[in-house]
Amino acid sequence: MKFFIDTANLDEIREANDMGILDGVTTNPSLMAKEGITGADRILKHYVDICNIVDGDVSAEVIATDYAGMIKEGENLASLHPNIVVKIPMIKDGIKAIRYFTDKGIKTNCTLVFSAGQAILAAKAGATYLSPFVGRLDDVSTNGIDLIAQIRLIYDNYMFDTQILAASVRHTMHIIQCAEVGADVMTGPLSSIKGLLNHPLTDIGLQKFLADYAKGNK
Ligand code: E4P
Repeated sequence: MKFFIDTANLDEIREANDMGILDGVTTNPSLMAKEGITGADRILKHYVDICNIVDGDVSAEVIATDYAGMIKEGENLASLHPNIVVKIPMIKDGIKAIRYFTDKGIKTNCTLVFSAGQAILAAKAGATYLSPFVGRLDDVSTNGIDLIAQIRLIYDNYMFDTQILAASVRHTMHIIQCAEVGADVMTGPLSSIKGLLNHPLTDIGLQKFLADYAKGNK
């Protein structure tokens, strides 16, 4: 399973990348705003800064919601760097735009996916990535991981190439469950990735090894 980090914070992206386990980055307009990145020029530069840190796919989301607007914006985003993936919302014009970019060989990430039906449409349009939002489904008392498993079954039935990018991952258990049900990619915050490191027996064991070494090497 590929690990993407879901942030526009350059320090966090560097930290995850320095661990040697980072395969890409996802952003969205809310994450850009959280970092205080506003205005078209600054936003475009920020995407390039991210691409210069990570050797992997970087999702950049369009703001337009009409077909012509999404094409114009997506082409501009794709021209910034070869690793840019144009992130497009799951709406009718979005599906049409995904088909356009697929036919042009430009990678896409279909975002704001909450159902298996939406997943089928995005795959039919040739989306590179599909982003079902696990955490936001959990937020409304619906099991987000179950949706990942359902889409996995459907995509395997028909050998769709679209990669399932489990999004809105919030914590370590989401990551483990995504791996169990066969998500191709997960994107989550740095805290969820670093949380995988933790086990008290590791800490206790390491302390004991170091103490025993110190005793024998005074
Ligand atoms: C996915 O690409 C989204 O940007 C993101 O994962 C949403 O996460 P949230 O539901 O924690 O905001």
